[in-house]
Amino acid sequence: MTKHGCACVFEINFYLQRPSENTIRTINNYQWWQSRRIKLVISVIVLAIVIITLSLVLKFVILAPKKSETTTGTTITTASTPSITTELYSTATTTTTTPTTTTPTTTTTSNEQSVWRQAGNLNHARYRHAASVLTDGKVLVTGGFSGSYQLDSAELYDPTTDNWTLTGNMNIERELHTASLLTNGRVLVVGGESAHGYTDVAELYDPSTGMWTVIATMQQARAEHTETVLPNGKVLVAGGFNGASHLDNAELYDPSTETWTNTSDMNVGREHHTACVLKDGRVLVAGGGNHPYENSAELYDPLTEIWSFTGNMTTGRERHTATVLEDGKVLVTGGAHDQMSSAELYDPATETWTAINAMKQTRFDHTASVLANGKVLIAGGYIVDVLDSAELYDPFTESWIAAANMNHIRTDHVAFVLANGKVLVAGGYDNTAMNAAELYELL
Ligand SMILES: *[C@@H]1O[C@H](CO)[C@@H](O)[C@H](O)[C@H]1NC(C)=O
Ligand SMILES: *[C@@H]1O[C@H](CO)[C@@H](O)[C@H](O)[C@H]1NC(C)=O
Ligand SMILES: *[C@@H]1O[C@H](CO)[C@@H](O)[C@H](O)[C@H]1NC(C)=O
Repeated sequence: MTKHGCACVFEINFYLQRPSENTIRTINNYQWWQSRRIKLVISVIVLAIVIITLSLVLKFVILAPKKSETTTGTTITTASTPSITTELYSTATTTTTTPTTTTPTTTTTSNEQSVWRQAGNLNHARYRHAASVLTDGKVLVTGGFSGSYQLDSAELYDPTTDNWTLTGNMNIERELHTASLLTNGRVLVVGGESAHGYTDVAELYDPSTGMWTVIATMQQARAEHTETVLPNGKVLVAGGFNGASHLDNAELYDPSTETWTNTSDMNVGREHHTACVLKDGRVLVAGGGNHPYENSAELYDPLTEIWSFTGNMTTGRERHTATVLEDGKVLVTGGAHDQMSSAELYDPATETWTAINAMKQTRFDHTASVLANGKVLIAGGYIVDVLDSAELYDPFTESWIAAANMNHIRTDHVAFVLANGKVLVAGGYDNTAMNAAELYELL
């Protein structure tokens, strides 16, 4: 019995059985006394168990809401222990503030599982600047407006370090100019507004030296024009504003002779229009102008150097975007003219425009970038207020999907697709010139 009792792991039982071993005669008395003690001990055990379970239950009550608190910190209901609730609220506030302080870079994710992350800041805040992706994958940002004056500074974004470094200054400060990467790896910057007015000065950036060289001046001073690299390597500069009129003049830069020559004039004078190279090598120019906004579009054929009207857009617009999709059609979005959210598609085969679903947000001076998955990312812009909203056009469903909002509101910014698939958005205007840059990436 004793052995059996000792076999019991309960330490209290073992202690109780010791007196029964020593005094066998008075076993009955001891048994009564013992049984009472057992009762006592059992009640103590039961009490202990009750206390343990109570504390466990309390712990669950305390711990469970703590975990779900990040979403709803105010919905905790522990009326029995007010001291605990205050403690809970204090922990709730710390848990909700830490994510915002430790990771200010991430914002809300969209149903596209994408995110905007803060990138390194530009050295100089700027808007109405121009940018191009170099052959080594870096992004060259040039000029722009500081808020009080035009900039001649240029800087390079390195996607591998996520920072910006100043490179050589341009020879002319400018805003509302254009920049494009030539087939020889250099960047051609032309026109814009300088401190001395509309400029015809063109210059070349050499990435190997980081230096700028002024080249032959254009035939026409202009800003708010378009600059398009043709399949033959020449550069078409078209339209714009020279302070007096909306220009129909267009000219060609030949990198092999480093000269400018007039090509035929467009049929319509345009500024703030768009130009893009179709898959067949022709250039589609659309919209632009000012009161009335042009609904017309025309095609430039690099072989004949002739402009010819193509189908009219469904509406007049300027400060819109035009993007060549993977299937060769051209997506045009938004723009200024009655605050537009409308979008349309140009089909080069039929030379016609078809209205598609409107964007979720009315905007102009926004950016459009074709992602690796074929979707088009629309970001920022202006309408009454500067926008932080972004949305995606899905060419396969011809519909618009909300994307995560940018970390900053911005308009008059630049956006470029990097070799790593991310979209870099840099600078712009958020009621003042901005130096903030951010990256859009799919998760
Ligand atoms: C940018 O990154 C490079 C390489 O890591 C580093 O040498 C340079 O100091 C960085 N510049 C800034 C401004 O952080
Ligand atoms: C080129 O066109 C511009 C604007 O129409 C004109 O002022 C200029 O004289 C032309 N250049 C030549 C060489 O014809
Ligand atoms: C295009 O629109 C203009 C008015 O902006 C109109 O005069 C012209 O006839 C239109 N062209 C076609 C082909 O509908």
